[in-house]
Amino acid sequence: VIPVILDVDTGVDDALALILAVRHPMLDLRAVTCVSGNTNVDQVVANTQYVLDAAGAGDVPVARGATRPLLVPPHHATHVHGPDGLGGFSRPSDRRVVGMHAIDLLRRELMAAIGTGDAITVVPLAPMTNIALLLRTYPEVAPGIARIVFMGGSAQTGNATAVAEFNVFADPEAAAIAIAAAGELSIPITMYGLDVFNDVRIGRERAHAMRDSGDPAAQLAGALLENQMRVFGLDDATIGDAGAVCAVIDPEGVTTSNYSVRVETSGMHTRGQTVVDRRAWSGDKADDPTVTVGAHIDVALDVDGERHANVWL
Ligand code: BDR
Ligand code: CA
Repeated sequence: VIPVILDVDTGVDDALALILAVRHPMLDLRAVTCVSGNTNVDQVVANTQYVLDAAGAGDVPVARGATRPLLVPPHHATHVHGPDGLGGFSRPSDRRVVGMHAIDLLRRELMAAIGTGDAITVVPLAPMTNIALLLRTYPEVAPGIARIVFMGGSAQTGNATAVAEFNVFADPEAAAIAIAAAGELSIPITMYGLDVFNDVRIGRERAHAMRDSGDPAAQLAGALLENQMRVFGLDDATIGDAGAVCAVIDPEGVTTSNYSVRVETSGMHTRGQTVVDRRAWSGDKADDPTVTVGAHIDVALDVDGERHANVWL
C-alpha cells in the first residue's frame, strides 16, 4: 500500500483523482490539501469535501492552503470547470476542515512518516503554490517524501497558452521553486504533463453505465465525465489529473525519461512553459543552483491509455 497526499484545486478531473485515491486498494490517502487554481480556494475546499463524501472517504484530513499564486493574481479555469469549479455538481458538505494551513498539515503528516519506512508520495494536481511554500518553509520534511508526481507542464504544446500548461502557467514561480527545491533536497520528482494528460480516456458508454450504477462515487464520476464530453463536444473524456494517480499505482504504464527541466518565468510569449531539454548531447547544468534554477526530473512522455483507464475505478 502506497501512502499518498493529494494537493488539489478541485476541479472536475481533481475530483476523479480524489475518488481513485479514496477507492483504490493500493493507496492510503493520508491527507488532502487545497490551493487556489481552477477556482478560488474556498470553493476548492467545498468541492473537495463534497467529493470525499461521495467517494465514501473516512476521516481524511483536509486543509485550506494558498489563496493566490506567489507573485501574480489568481488565474482560474471556470470556463472549463464551470462557475462552481465542478461542472455544476458541487453540493454542500459537513466534512471537517482542519484548522491549520495546508503546508502545516503537509508538514505534520510528512514529519510523522520519517523513520517509519513508509515515506509519502505527494501528488500535486494544481498550481504548485503550496508545494513551493512547503519545501522552502519546511525543507526538513524531505525524508518524509518518497517522491513527487505532479500534474503540470508539457514537453511540447500547452493548453493555457501555446506553450504553457494551466497549472504551471497559473503560478510559474511556484513551479520553478518546487522543481528546483525537489532537486536540491534530492526528492525524486515526476512530471505528468500534457504529453500524457489527455491520453487516458473513458468512452460515453462506460461513463453512462457509471452514472447509472448504485455507487455514489461512480455516479458522480460518470456525471463529471459526461459533462466534459458535452463541454468539449466529444464522445469520450480524459480522466486528466486522475492519470497522475494511476501513474503512482502503476508506474510501468507510463514511459518516462530523465531530462533537465526549467520553468520559463519571464518570456513575453512563453511564461509558464516547462523547458524540457531533450538534447542528447547537452551538458546541462540544471541541477546547479548557482548556474540556473531547475532540476533533472522524470518526464512522462507516453502512457498506455487503455491500461490506465482500467486502473481507474
Ligand atoms: C490541469 O489544469 C486544471 O484545469 C486541471 O484540473 C488539471 O490539473 C490541466 O492543465
Ligand atoms: Ca487540477
